[in-house]
Amino acid sequence: MLFQNLRDEIDATLVRDPAARSRLEVVLCYPGFQALLYFRLAHWLWQRRWYLSGRFVSHCGRVMTGIEIHPGARIGRRLFIDHGMGVVIGETAEIGDDCTLYQGVTLGGTSLERGQKRHPTLGNGVIVSSGAQVLGPFRVGDGARIGAQAVVLREVPDGATMVGIPARPVGRGASAKTEPTFEPYAITGEIPDPIARPLTALLDEVAALRARVAELERERGAASAAEPPPEPIRPRVARANP
Ligand SMILES: CC(C)(COP(=O)(O)OP(=O)(O)OC[C@H]1O[C@@H](n2cnc3c(N)ncnc32)[C@H](O)[C@@H]1OP(=O)(O)O)[C@@H](O)C(=O)NCCC(=O)NCCS
Repeated sequence: MLFQNLRDEIDATLVRDPAARSRLEVVLCYPGFQALLYFRLAHWLWQRRWYLSGRFVSHCGRVMTGIEIHPGARIGRRLFIDHGMGVVIGETAEIGDDCTLYQGVTLGGTSLERGQKRHPTLGNGVIVSSGAQVLGPFRVGDGARIGAQAVVLREVPDGATMVGIPARPVGRGASAKTEPTFEPYAITGEIPDPIARPLTALLDEVAALRARVAELERERGAASAAEPPPEPIRPRVARANP
């Protein structure tokens, strides 16, 4: 059905935005939700090869909401686009279930190859923070978080947090998070410092080496106590010629 899952999307907005108070408020005042309505219709037209109509509906959605979603994109269930202004989702982009996008996000391409996949694929439960650019036909793993203003140019593993330009991973790896859960604004406070981690490993190594040196010194001390004292070294006296 064309507008199936809309109730789920309204509820997803209520769950993920503490500012949302009622379903009616979501329907009337949330451009992210309204953009999805336009997208569903545009995508329906696009799938039936009514390309121009699809593009036109998509364009109307852009004018009304400031969110541009190409009708050819594939979007899973319960997508939440918060604020939304400036969001661009390209033609071959794919978005899994329970994803969240903030304002200014681009799911864009880096090539001009017609008919090829040019845009990223987001797994389930991915959060893309405000202003982030995800560019290219790679996958962003389930539960990954993209930091504000990051520029992501390569595949992102499940559960990773990426920040910076170009984006680099910080903090938790894939194993740390199996079930994606929503964290408002992607904040957890669990990210260890990427420099502190190797430093901590080095300090552990130094402590282990110190313990080994102390042990060797003890063994040496015990061995030398058991042995007779070495003869004192006498200085050689040069013999005079007869
Ligand atoms: C990336 C993000 C998810 C990480 O949040 P967090 O779990 O609290 O992580 P921390 O703040 O502890 O940051 C960990 C490290 O990453 C760096 N970092 C965090 N966010 C960054 C960003 N967007 N760009 C560059 N570096 C960033 C921090 O400086 C810190 O580095 P340091 O240890 O060298 O000081 C978060 O910072 C973020 O960008 N959230 C988006 C929020 C958003 O878009 N809100 C819009 C509301 S309208």
